[in-house]
Amino acid sequence: MDFLTIADTDPAAVERMVRLAASAKAEPAQYGDVLAGQTVGLFFMKPSTRTRVSSEVAVLQMGGNPLVLKDSEVGLGGRESVADVARVLDRYLDVLAFRVFDHADLVTLADQADAPVINLLSDLEHPCQAIADLQTLAEHVPLEGATLAYLGDGNNVCHSLMLAATMTGVSVRVASPSGYEPSPAYVERARAYGEVLITTDPAEAVDGADAVYTDVWASMGQESERADRLALFRPYSVTTDLLAAAKADAIFLHCLPAHRGEEVAAQVMEHERSRVFDQAENRLHAFKGVLLGL
Ligand code: CP
Ligand code: NVA
Repeated sequence: MDFLTIADTDPAAVERMVRLAASAKAEPAQYGDVLAGQTVGLFFMKPSTRTRVSSEVAVLQMGGNPLVLKDSEVGLGGRESVADVARVLDRYLDVLAFRVFDHADLVTLADQADAPVINLLSDLEHPCQAIADLQTLAEHVPLEGATLAYLGDGNNVCHSLMLAATMTGVSVRVASPSGYEPSPAYVERARAYGEVLITTDPAEAVDGADAVYTDVWASMGQESERADRLALFRPYSVTTDLLAAAKADAIFLHCLPAHRGEEVAAQVMEHERSRVFDQAENRLHAFKGVLLGL
């Protein structure tokens, strides 16, 4: 089984991964030899801190061998076709996990490899992040009936989060500048599972929410759009005033890396209700949940 997107999975699989992530956090020793004798390839075409380290440590703690590969070594689609790289790596590795620019490359990799393929972030989704996000939200409030506000770019993180959240009973409100909403296909799919509000008004999104979430305004690969986006996204910055408009005990979430003074105020990052570093820790447990779930 592959894990390319939340969209390719179903509520039962998402719930199982979140449950296993919580179990791996509570009782890590229980899973200490699950991957004995197995090698997990972790391939990166873009920079990474959390995903790279949490996945490598997760595999080590589960008794497996992580093998980290950078694109400067492989030349995916340049030195060698994506399909041929997949066919070769499949002969050596038991699980293939990739961070790519173009989601279509992941689809090719999964088509060509018999081993499970995991998405470590593409332009379309960041599904492992969404499992950690739900685990973190569930540590604060029961998922069923909770409300999550996402402010900013309707990007990869937003897509995975919106779908995974609605699949587990969370209502989602997304506030984005016009033209930067999540893709209509994702909105439609999420609405099949639960309540989704798409608005351009950040105050409408955060009103009474249990959690306020944001991500960078210019994702990796969009650096040339950064200046234009900074001006356009300014009203969506999560400030202490905006956090105060959510529930009195609402938590702040961010997948990180964060840009203080842009999508989030420094005071919100350091707020007593900021859970961003728990969320980053949960990437470790969530990656175990993903591997166990698969
Ligand atoms: N949140 C996240 O994926 O971080 P990295 O880009 O550092 O892996
Ligand atoms: N949306 C961001 C997430 C980084 C973890 C990006 O794709 O760069």
